[in-house]
Amino acid sequence: MFDYINGENNTFKNLINGEWVSSISENFIDIKSPLDKSLLGRVPAMTKEEVDSAIKYAKEAQKKWRDTTISERGKILYKAADLLLEHSDELAHIMMMEIAKDRKSSSSEVSRTADFIRFTVDTAKNLSGESLQGDSFPGFNNNKISIVRREPLGVVLAISPFNYPINLSASKIAPALMAGNSVILKPATQGSLCALYLASIFEKAGVPKGVLNTITGRGSNIGDYITTHPGIDFINFTGSTEVGTRISKITCMVPLLMELGGKDAAIVLENANLELAASNIVSGGYSYSGQRCTAVKRILVVDKVADELVAKIKEKIKLLIVGNPIDKDVDISPLISTEAADFVWDLIEETKSRGANLVIGGKREGNLIYPTLFDNVTTDMRLAWEEPFGPVLPIIRVKDKDEAIEIANKSQYGLQGAVFTESINDAFYVADKLEVGTVQINNKTERGPDHFPFMGVKASGMGTQGIKYSIEAMSRPKATVINIIR
Ligand code: NAP
Ligand code: G3H
Repeated sequence: MFDYINGENNTFKNLINGEWVSSISENFIDIKSPLDKSLLGRVPAMTKEEVDSAIKYAKEAQKKWRDTTISERGKILYKAADLLLEHSDELAHIMMMEIAKDRKSSSSEVSRTADFIRFTVDTAKNLSGESLQGDSFPGFNNNKISIVRREPLGVVLAISPFNYPINLSASKIAPALMAGNSVILKPATQGSLCALYLASIFEKAGVPKGVLNTITGRGSNIGDYITTHPGIDFINFTGSTEVGTRISKITCMVPLLMELGGKDAAIVLENANLELAASNIVSGGYSYSGQRCTAVKRILVVDKVADELVAKIKEKIKLLIVGNPIDKDVDISPLISTEAADFVWDLIEETKSRGANLVIGGKREGNLIYPTLFDNVTTDMRLAWEEPFGPVLPIIRVKDKDEAIEIANKSQYGLQGAVFTESINDAFYVADKLEVGTVQINNKTERGPDHFPFMGVKASGMGTQGIKYSIEAMSRPKATVINIIR
């Protein structure tokens, strides 16, 4: 099904105005597998002129798409969900090869995305406007009625990260399209093959020409040009705080929805179910090798139960399977790049040299870093504050819940937090005080279910995602006031 997006010499094409087009400049970027460095394909490094043309077509196409009925848009997106499932194995395989995600997580990313798309359609169909009477405001009589409907914003620029190349692209595209916008998708370069396959699925499902267009190229080269392009009406970005901050600095009068980095804390109190806490910490901290924005990234445990918790976590880490996802079902696979692995390794070395206690791990083979746990990490160590985006977790021992809250809130990040306790009072006490978008009680930090609101505060983002919230963010109220002449 996907052959036509792949040209000569394994060069991939971009979807522009309903056509799959190659690079005009003949400038391509090699996409190599993090697993074995094999060349998976080459994507165009698009020029400014190519970007201009994609945005121009998106602008034109949006006018017609805005007038397409919601039920017609929904039919097309339902078809896209069906096609995703039909091609689940192919997509999961390319995901494994391109971003080294394990087989089970790759397959579940595809099925979760199909569910996301269908739920988005159903939600959009059921969103309604409102009508307001003028006479509830002092000085007005009942001659005025405001009818408030939702209007699309225009061209949405969707920029997705490497770690969920299908899901975090589709979770921008589907709500944007259902709200009546056209979309320019700029995926992470490592992840762009998955994203081009996804775009071809939407195209095959019947998304009209120009309504969805793709732009490949390094963010460091074309990012500033696209994000400040006058043809863009909304930017939906997921990625690092560094790039998100840059986008918010250089853009002007364009609404932004940003999901950025995190340093989610799991707080374990003396009255916690330690078995439950340990299981959640291990799956939350190490799945996809810690390369999730919502991964548990530090453990704040009350001293009294720390030894017992550490022992339980260590036993569960020993059970994690490390290796190449093509060979076997693994929990820990190689990190996305050598730079990423070097960064994580540097954090590990620093934490070791500063005297923290290495409980398990601390081993590296190429870009494969074994799941690593440090105990007695102190707040003067980098690992207490920095986001590794890799399989390493610090344990910081605290005297009580107030100290845990204080350290948790000192972070620049505020994505999620988790508290493990069997006391409802303690759970609500901590949940109330954590400066984050979401607090999980007795569960790992995680984004789903996808219709829940998902948002970061402080350096973790701005605006709210989640199916209904994303549709609302990518549309605006438009009021028409009827003035009754009596
Ligand atoms: P990244 O380096 O910030 O890249 C994200 C996206 O931005 C990619 O498409 C990248 O393209 C693009 N980009 C880079 N420079 C740009 C620029 N100047 N202007 C516009 N776009 C630019 O992040 P990543 O390494 O892919 O993902 C890891 C980070 O994302 C972590 O910090 C993680 O916490 C965060 N994340 C957050 C969430 C969340 O929901 N809160 C979800 C997933 C990931 P190139 O690939 O071409 O550079
Ligand atoms: O990496 C960021 C994703 O938004 C996290 O989603 O919690 O379902 O893994 P997840």
